[in-house]
Amino acid sequence: MPERVIPLFDHRQAVRMPALPSAVVPASGRLTDTLQRPLRDLRISVTDRCNFRCSYCMPKEVFDKDHVYLPHASLLTFEEITHLARLFVAHGVRKIRLTGGEPLLRKNIEVLIGQLAALRTVDGEPLDITLTTNGSLLERKARALKDAGLQRVTVSLDGLDDAVFRGMNDVDFPVAAVLKGIDAARDAGLGPIKVNMVVKRGTNDHEILPMARHFRGTGIVLRFIEYMDVGASNGWRMDEVLASADVIRLIQNELPMLPLEPASSGETAQRWGYSDAHGRFDPALGEIGVISSVTQAFCHDCNRARLSTEGKLYLCLFASQGHDLRGLLRSGASDETLSSAIGHIWAGRGDRYSELRNTTTGTGARRVEMSYIGG
Ligand code: GTP
Ligand code: 5AD
Ligand code: SF4
Ligand code: SF4
Repeated sequence: MPERVIPLFDHRQAVRMPALPSAVVPASGRLTDTLQRPLRDLRISVTDRCNFRCSYCMPKEVFDKDHVYLPHASLLTFEEITHLARLFVAHGVRKIRLTGGEPLLRKNIEVLIGQLAALRTVDGEPLDITLTTNGSLLERKARALKDAGLQRVTVSLDGLDDAVFRGMNDVDFPVAAVLKGIDAARDAGLGPIKVNMVVKRGTNDHEILPMARHFRGTGIVLRFIEYMDVGASNGWRMDEVLASADVIRLIQNELPMLPLEPASSGETAQRWGYSDAHGRFDPALGEIGVISSVTQAFCHDCNRARLSTEGKLYLCLFASQGHDLRGLLRSGASDETLSSAIGHIWAGRGDRYSELRNTTTGTGARRVEMSYIGG
């Protein structure tokens, strides 16, 4: 294992000061990029720390005791996050996802949630505010998160077998505690709950069916994610990817399903609903999703922007450079300048890494780590 691990390149140094447009870019709520993709989803990383060491994300060999995390002064404050989020919302953002690292490690996260919950979309609606967590602190925090205004959570869970799960999080964390966290989230009304399982062939693919059986009929939406070549430290290999088509085939053999229409445009997951004895979708049995960024890229309608822990704007999960909004903010730039910078950056966006992955056009640049910009 260690011989496949590539030393970390510090993307935190790779800054691009935002190029300011010559004229004001108005926040019309209808901002689109060069491929006509709107800006709808803002994913905010609130910490680069995590108490797990999933090998596909923060392998122990790289994120060891010598790894230097961001100093507190580098992190955006809650006020700074909310300030920037308000400007993004005016450009058309409708969904905010808090990520990490592990976002529940950020102290007083519910204070930030309260501030974000007060924002309104350009249509005057509340935002869809959600959070991706490994579930380890959820049992303790679910109620406070709900009270602060969080609508729902997505919990990462890579298997039900305790030994498999402890091995995948690589810190010997028991699966029972995450399952309790999911129960607490449900009791607190943080739904619809989604569970994300990254599938690594040969590591946890035998957990696909037990996971499907466990969550079928619970109202929880289980999603299977193809293991991605994100970042530069996980030693990704194509032969460890299990294609979503194979996941569907495997489940279909035992639990009949049929494809469902997308719930909204720009969705990451393809939805499949469990069917009844007559071959019709049975909402009581629920649905699953497959996220196929390796075998079936979904860049064509990608509407996601990512704000890193220290305030850099990334236009793609696989980007190698961010745009330093914190620098602009802390230099005292006006809202008009900041908003125009955001508009200008998105308007110039042409990123579509997953679609280019298998072509010669694919970029060879060192990519940012997922624990730094969030999933
Ligand atoms: P919902 O609104 O709850 O459906 O969320 P979502 O599917 O947009 O977000 P989530 O963070 O749950 O995404 C699940 C997984 O899909 C992530 O952990 C990533 O592995 C992958 N993913 C999410 N967004 C992108 C993206 O823009 N590009 C690629 N390649 N993968 C993504
Ligand atoms: N491939 C796919 N998904 C990943 N995640 C992190 N690293 C990877 C990867 N290499 C996603 C998982 C996890 C979330 C926090 O980030 O969905 O649940
Ligand atoms: Fe932590 Fe999530 Fe990354 Fe695992 S995938 S190391 S839980 S941030
Ligand atoms: Fe969006 Fe980049 Fe993911 Fe494509 S690879 S879906 S452009 S974040």
